[in-house]
Amino acid sequence: MTLLGDASIAGGRKEEEGEIISIRGGRPLSGRVEVKGAKNLVTKAMVASLLGESPSILRDVPEISDVAVVRSLLEVHGVRVEDGVEPGSLVLDPRDVESAHFEEIDAHAGASRIPILFCGPLLHRLGQAFIPDLGGCRIGDRPIDFHLDALRKFGAVVEKLPSGIRLSAPQGLRGASIHLPYPSVGATEQVLLTAVRAKGVTELRNAAIEPEIMDLIAVLQKMGAIISYEPNRVIFIEGVDRLKGYDHRAIFDRNEAASWASAAIATDGEIFVAGARQQEMLTFLNVLRKVGADFDVQEDGILFRRDGELRPVVVETDVHPGFMTDWQQPLIVALTQASGRSVVHETVYENRFGFTQALVKMGADIVVHPHGLQEGVRRVARRALEQAAVITGPTALRGADITVPDLRGGYSHVIAALTAEGESIVRNVGIIRRGYPDFFAKLRALGADFDVIG
Ligand code: EPZ
Repeated sequence: MTLLGDASIAGGRKEEEGEIISIRGGRPLSGRVEVKGAKNLVTKAMVASLLGESPSILRDVPEISDVAVVRSLLEVHGVRVEDGVEPGSLVLDPRDVESAHFEEIDAHAGASRIPILFCGPLLHRLGQAFIPDLGGCRIGDRPIDFHLDALRKFGAVVEKLPSGIRLSAPQGLRGASIHLPYPSVGATEQVLLTAVRAKGVTELRNAAIEPEIMDLIAVLQKMGAIISYEPNRVIFIEGVDRLKGYDHRAIFDRNEAASWASAAIATDGEIFVAGARQQEMLTFLNVLRKVGADFDVQEDGILFRRDGELRPVVVETDVHPGFMTDWQQPLIVALTQASGRSVVHETVYENRFGFTQALVKMGADIVVHPHGLQEGVRRVARRALEQAAVITGPTALRGADITVPDLRGGYSHVIAALTAEGESIVRNVGIIRRGYPDFFAKLRALGADFDVIG
């Protein structure tokens, strides 16, 4: 591996910002990586700081572009965001929040879905909000109807414009009874961030209960919110008049942890993921056991490795505590090395197997069923939008020229290239930096043989 060191690369970019890497695969990844705060909590906790009347401190913030996007959106609204004393912490001071101008917001929204979560806090603070059209991974049409329906129930007036949506709350926001058609993570967060300062009680049914949602509830409770939940996905929020800042250490990123675990198994290596906790990964660990992988839960993390021949499995993605949809892409790379026929039923999104085309190009045997597979005993309720992928292995993967399609698929492309014999060129790698902090440095720490070439 030729380290380019500090030498700039094509286009004068720093190596860490490289977009194209050349990977020489066929070597096990082994070593130690640390996962910090969860991308899908940290970005929401940053938005929650808008609701406070005093500064908040958020700890274990990963250095990823999704955080940078939310940071600039907050700053455009007058929130002062500074690095905290503790490395990896942010101080967010919302005491001078004022409405931003559309062009400024649009310039900062980037490829993120987080802006939609600014609605409630901005309506409480300013009585109005403008949210530009949303970005985010192309893994389905990612609608926001559950969000807008909920906001209307709180009393918001929603106006759809060609460039986004404008909201106002002429009579303020009041508690509502909301029943989500599906336990949507984003819609649950939308309701939580709006209900905490609404007048009266909000009852939310069919809520998402992912660990990141529970951590956001902990953040809001620290701010002064009164939130309780029942075992059957019902959450009650008693609106309060004032909220203060919080001091919170974010939950670890279980998606990143599962990604590195899958990399260890796919490349027949051994990776210790510091910061990973068993409790939030139970379902993932059960599947690893069935696949024939081994894991060792320790005080400060989990050690992942293959434990002999990999076995095929049938996996159904689902809302928590089921097998997360974000876990299936990296796992599928490992399943290309399992001896037999595996099936992954993707029930959360309608288009989350696009990344498998590149794996097939590298020699994998994967057949995607765009309307799902009506076979076998199912635990998860079938959904009209679901798809299925059938992976038959083991297949030898060969290096290829591939382009990253989205965050989790992109990570899987890199793992496939590291698993494959020969050289691969992986393009559009910047997308991976949205959700995997210090990605190149972690790959190097695990012995990956690659160069940044563009
Ligand atoms: C969050 O997306 C995560 N993103 C996703 O992670 C994750 O895969 C997903 O939750 C499921 O766990 C962030 O937290 C930023 P949903 P979100 O609302 O909130 C449908 C990653 O890689 N739906 O739970 O957008 C939707 O189409 C990303 O980190 C509506 O129909 O997910 C999907 O089929 C990828 N209408 C299902 O619900 C709505 O208004 C689940 O979506 C909202 C959602």
